[in-house]
Amino acid sequence: MTAFPFELKASDGQARTGVLKTPRGDIPTPIFMPVGTAATVKALTLDMVRQSHAKIILGNTYHLMLRPTAERVKRLGGLHKFMGWDGPILTDSGGFQVMSLSQISKVTEDNVTFQSHIDGSRHILSPERSIEIQADLLGSDIVMQLDECVSYPADEARAQKALQLSARWGQRSKAAFGTRDTQALFGIQQGSTFEALRRESTDRLLEIGFDGYAIGGLAVGEGHEAMCDTLDYCAPILPWDRPRYLMGVGKPIDLVEAVARGVDMFDCVLPTRSGRHGQVWTWEGPINIKNARFAEDDSPLDPSSDCPASRDYSKAYLHHLMRSEEILGQVLLSWHNIAFFQALMIKIRAAIAAGEFAQFRSWFRETHLASKT
Ligand code: GUN
Repeated sequence: MTAFPFELKASDGQARTGVLKTPRGDIPTPIFMPVGTAATVKALTLDMVRQSHAKIILGNTYHLMLRPTAERVKRLGGLHKFMGWDGPILTDSGGFQVMSLSQISKVTEDNVTFQSHIDGSRHILSPERSIEIQADLLGSDIVMQLDECVSYPADEARAQKALQLSARWGQRSKAAFGTRDTQALFGIQQGSTFEALRRESTDRLLEIGFDGYAIGGLAVGEGHEAMCDTLDYCAPILPWDRPRYLMGVGKPIDLVEAVARGVDMFDCVLPTRSGRHGQVWTWEGPINIKNARFAEDDSPLDPSSDCPASRDYSKAYLHHLMRSEEILGQVLLSWHNIAFFQALMIKIRAAIAAGEFAQFRSWFRETHLASKT
């Protein structure tokens, strides 16, 4: 039995729409989770995040254990109270961030040792410690198992080794997590771009049994086509009746194509990170607002949006703010992008429910595949 019922409402091909029920609120799927790495969705207040229609945000074990430390967050009442977000929070387990951010890391059977990217101090993450940080100290709603993700390209033997270690860490994560009434634990499929390995990883995860299943090890440099080819086989083998979460993805076109292959949940730094650098998503494709052609464009980014950042400011003004390196420019573009990603998910859910996802997908591909974003 799981604490988080998942009710599928409609499907259209492999694409599905439903509701993941959590004690902190219902999450309509497919869903995009804004990344709140360091207990903040960068540049945005929580009112802005809520107004963008986000229903769940993501936090990071790696960052929070280093600063302000998980123990301090616990003393301050847990992550929800600390940052003021009363909706669901999913936390990543830390392994992926150790590989990508810390200067030095060493993986053994037991754990991963690493040096902080902030001050060089040494730390250890084990499956048990990651569960303790996420579930007991931060108080996360959806907890991820510790895993090992290989970079791309990986040779098959290396990918096999990482998936076996991830499976053993999944087993240890489950044992440490036990069964809980108000929190869920997700396993993570690995196996790089090898079909046999993805199948083997899935078998191992299913033997253990999780509340949801993530697809890890993608969007690590393989590109859109190879990611879609991998999703063709690695998503449908995950249980139909549990949420499927594609980690660290992606661009709007990646989301649409992954939904078409049966994925329900996503997270990515892209809307906030690229917003801080002037890249903006629109229904016509992506634009860079710093481009000279926007200097005197007095139209808003999206007059039909209910997000003030998209509706109430001209492109010329946003162009000026970004060219002048004004903080408000970063705030408004991050807000617009997060609202755009949520609007996209709302359209995707409506299209699946109406049995019109195929039309929606081809309309979206026409603009967004051509621009490769
Ligand atoms: N974020 C993006 N990809 C991954 C992955 O493979 N594992 C984990 N834990 N987090 C991720």
